Amino acid sequence: MGDDLMDNIVSLCKRRGFIFANSDIYGGLSNTWDYGPFGVEFKNNVKRAWWKANVHCRDDIYGMDAAILMHPNVWDASGHIKQFHDYKSDCKTCHKLFKIADLNPVRKKSPKGKGLSNGVKDKNICPDCGGKLTEARPFNLMFKTYQGVVEDKASLLYLRPETAQGMFVNFLNVLDSCHPKLPFGLAQIGKAFRNEVTPGNFTFRTREFEQMEIEYFVHPDHADKKLEEWIEDRFNWYINLGIRKENLRKRLHGQDELAHYAAACTDIEYKFPFGWQELEGIANRTDFDLKQHGESSGKDFRYFDTESKERFYPYIIEPSGGVDRTTLAFLVDAYREEEVKKRKRVFLSLHKDLAPIKVAVLPLLTNRAEIVELARNICQDLKKKYFCVYDDTAAIGKLYRRQDEVGTPYCVTVDVESLEDRKVTVRDRDTMNQDRIGIDKLKDYLKQRLAG
Ligand code: GAP
Repeated sequence: MGDDLMDNIVSLCKRRGFIFANSDIYGGLSNTWDYGPFGVEFKNNVKRAWWKANVHCRDDIYGMDAAILMHPNVWDASGHIKQFHDYKSDCKTCHKLFKIADLNPVRKKSPKGKGLSNGVKDKNICPDCGGKLTEARPFNLMFKTYQGVVEDKASLLYLRPETAQGMFVNFLNVLDSCHPKLPFGLAQIGKAFRNEVTPGNFTFRTREFEQMEIEYFVHPDHADKKLEEWIEDRFNWYINLGIRKENLRKRLHGQDELAHYAAACTDIEYKFPFGWQELEGIANRTDFDLKQHGESSGKDFRYFDTESKERFYPYIIEPSGGVDRTTLAFLVDAYREEEVKKRKRVFLSLHKDLAPIKVAVLPLLTNRAEIVELARNICQDLKKKYFCVYDDTAAIGKLYRRQDEVGTPYCVTVDVESLEDRKVTVRDRDTMNQDRIGIDKLKDYLKQRLAG
């Protein structure tokens, strides 16, 4: 069932213009995907919903958009050059490459700089062919590139593996320009790159992906409480946007799987067809990052509290999620199949804020110019408010099926009677119920149902 569901989703994504294999005509670049016309609308809506909840609807979070390329000292100070490793091993017989964390699910990451645990050493047999595995070797996940015309050590740069550092290095700029008081946060959405050993499961794990990250600065004494608040807040964000509660859970990290900067972390996991997997991690990064950048740059990253006259390094609570795998989770959760009049109906029961198209206007007959004109005018008018499309390229049954498959909440049909009674039929995607509405009342009708 799991494999079938994923196959159906991958096929729908291609058929309906959500997601295409990258560089397809040249055989594809493995595990790299392009978002098509409806995919980009859908993914933008996911990002918009996140930004609205975390930046626009709060008084204590500022948005940011830092560059992907950063000074190489950033990655030295952050610990990524020394510690941002996966451990890999390959089979001496079949030569297949394995990530150690996948061979030994108990230990997801290797202990900091200590080599591998006994658990890992025991797993030296290839799960595919039974051959012997090589010694596990560390593998830095950062992509390298060069700035300027000379490709040498001095011009070496990295593609950022997380958006977070762009916010830490701007901490003092935000203090100086916006004068926020603790607790406050910075939020950013942007590309990140990791040379993953084992990407896969469609858009779930890729080498190029987008993150949505918040760095929330708090007094160290308040860090534990704020961490708990953020875990609840972020969990509810998914539920409010339609993810079914039984498909979402929280998982506390064991001490031995924490990243090198974290004192605690809880993942929000989704039950994908390929198993429970992380959507987002909410971590207490302590004062690690601000201290590191302070020491490395020689700048004072401490915060001065004007009331208590205290000067200290704030702790950072970090809710960090992936745009692509969150978008995939919304897609999987919304996928529905049902039988209608002995035919299979496939539809995406997406939350209205996430649906790529909000309204489709469909003329019932195209051989009557007045009907086409009226339908086009209605669509044009609705476009001022919603992403709305006009389609007359097939019979009505087929047009409905197309819109169902991309999750369009409402279809407006214009027929012969519309010319007389100035009314249209509005069809609901989930129930297939139809209402006959006056054209002059249509905007109000949709506003009540679509207003975010
Ligand atoms: N700044 C903290 C940080 O980057 P992370 O757990 O390594 O933490 C955060 O990544 C989120 O980024 C993950 O929860 C996941 O949603 C997303 N992510 C990480 N690696 C990814 C990959 N290779 N492909 C897609 N998304 C990824």
